[in-house]
Amino acid sequence: MNRTIELIKTIYEIKQLEDFEEPQIALAGRSNVGKSSLINCLAGRKGLAKISSKPGKTRSLNYYRVEPDGFFLVDLPGYGYAKCSKAERAKWAKLIEAYIQGNTQLKAVAVLLDSRLTPQKLDLELTSYLKSLGIPVIPVLTKSDKPKQRDRAKIQNQWKDILQQDKAPLCFSSKTGMGEAKLWDILAAHAAL
Ligand code: GTP
Ligand code: MG
Repeated sequence: MNRTIELIKTIYEIKQLEDFEEPQIALAGRSNVGKSSLINCLAGRKGLAKISSKPGKTRSLNYYRVEPDGFFLVDLPGYGYAKCSKAERAKWAKLIEAYIQGNTQLKAVAVLLDSRLTPQKLDLELTSYLKSLGIPVIPVLTKSDKPKQRDRAKIQNQWKDILQQDKAPLCFSSKTGMGEAKLWDILAAHAAL
């Protein structure tokens, strides 16, 4: 299927949140994990989401509409960016919480995890938080073009054990397109539930 992705709304504050009728899948992950690159890869457009080698680039919540399916991908601001102030980090956490809690159209959260790193504290905190709310987690190992296959498999298995899911997390690379078709299938299936 040929899909298009279009940015329809950007918000910076809780008071700007609105209830949409469309099913939504949020994208979350530590700063610099490759979220914006993943959106651009899915969109087949380089400049849709801004990419930076410096972490902390995406500071807003961005709603993208996927057609023809009609669901939203919602890019959440990256967490764990060390260089921003405590107050700023607290503000982000509140915004993300406000978005997630009580959002009946939120079908799942795709949690982007760096395929080169063993599970990080903040990733574990996020996945257990989502689990506690009963929100399905779609784990995605980003930058999978980087590690050797063996090392990647190790990380995959670690996450499979932690998340207690039947399948190991999907390996994805926005550089090579690895896992792209599969990711679309998974996202569309969750959005349709
Ligand atoms: P923030 O918005 O700062 O939270 O970052 P982000 O998660 O949106 O990451 P972004 O997509 O901006 O990518 C961060 C860096 O990782 C950039 O230098 C990208 O070129 C690089 N990168 C992203 N995806 C991949 C990938 O699949 N493979 C490789 N090798 N590098 C990648
Ligand atoms: Mg980004």
